[in-house]
Amino acid sequence: MAQTARALDVRTEFAADVFAGLSKSGQKELPSKYLYDDIGSALFEVITLLPEYGLCRAEERLFERHATELVARLPGAVVVAELGSGTGKKTRRVLEALGRRQTTSYYPIDVSPAALLRCEREFSGLPSVKLAGLVSPYLDGLREVARRRPAGAPLLVLFMGSTIGNLERPVMEDFLRDVREQLAPGDGFLLSADLEKPVSQLLAAYDDSIGVTAAFNLNLLERINRELGGSFDVSRFRHEARWNDRERRIEMHLSSTCEQNVHIRRAGISAEFRTGETIWTECSHRFNCAEVVRLGQRSGFRCDTQWVDSEWPFAQSLLIAN
Ligand code: TRP
Repeated sequence: MAQTARALDVRTEFAADVFAGLSKSGQKELPSKYLYDDIGSALFEVITLLPEYGLCRAEERLFERHATELVARLPGAVVVAELGSGTGKKTRRVLEALGRRQTTSYYPIDVSPAALLRCEREFSGLPSVKLAGLVSPYLDGLREVARRRPAGAPLLVLFMGSTIGNLERPVMEDFLRDVREQLAPGDGFLLSADLEKPVSQLLAAYDDSIGVTAAFNLNLLERINRELGGSFDVSRFRHEARWNDRERRIEMHLSSTCEQNVHIRRAGISAEFRTGETIWTECSHRFNCAEVVRLGQRSGFRCDTQWVDSEWPFAQSLLIAN
């Protein structure tokens, strides 16, 4: 019953966000968190394997080289929480390294129940990890972990995959402050950020040759059809990745290939599209190392260590709560 009520809440919020985003008079938009239903999360897993998308391999290389050093820099018996764990594949090395020291509580937080189930499976053979998944938005999940942590146990929060870059720049700092508020002085926050690189490489990473990223983006329209009774014909929308030089970010859009009207029953909206008009679904910012340090400092952290992959410029920063 509680589950059903929550599912309804989530759906009502989805309907409200779709209504707000598509009734905008200027640029129409949809919040990127809705890309990650079970189908979107599975497609994203495939994106991480694409030759054009080097980001996750960079993260893996860094963990391969530095997981032991990372663990050595943390206090003993840390409780680990991960914001947007997905299937937890990228976290395995860290948890293995922590597990060599002691049994570790791990709270993966994700909006996709299917991804969390796979995460549970991923770690079921690792007795040093005590896993408790939370199907929830990041901050609600983190609040729950903060409530459950044993008194005095330090926390390590993982925020990987450069997901910070999917927030707008002014919102990044607010978000880090909200995270900081759930932490105690000395707690760790491992923050990954993708670094600047040639634009052609970035455009390919977000518009791959076999169309997985296009499917990932278009799935949002099908999700609206499935869950909110929408009438989107996805063959009349095209995935588009753009580089915004002023904001230093990739933007993903869904571009209408003709003039059309789309009705979304459960959001109570009829949206009109001109030919070439787009729905903005995601942004993915690029960083340099120094600005990640400053971002941390402005939100109540100091940077302990930064690890950088040179093959696909990418940084992991270990921030410590002041
Ligand atoms: N945090 C990831 C990124 O910005 C998320 C992501 C990867 C993504 N590929 C994507 C988001 C394609 C939208 C579309 O790279």
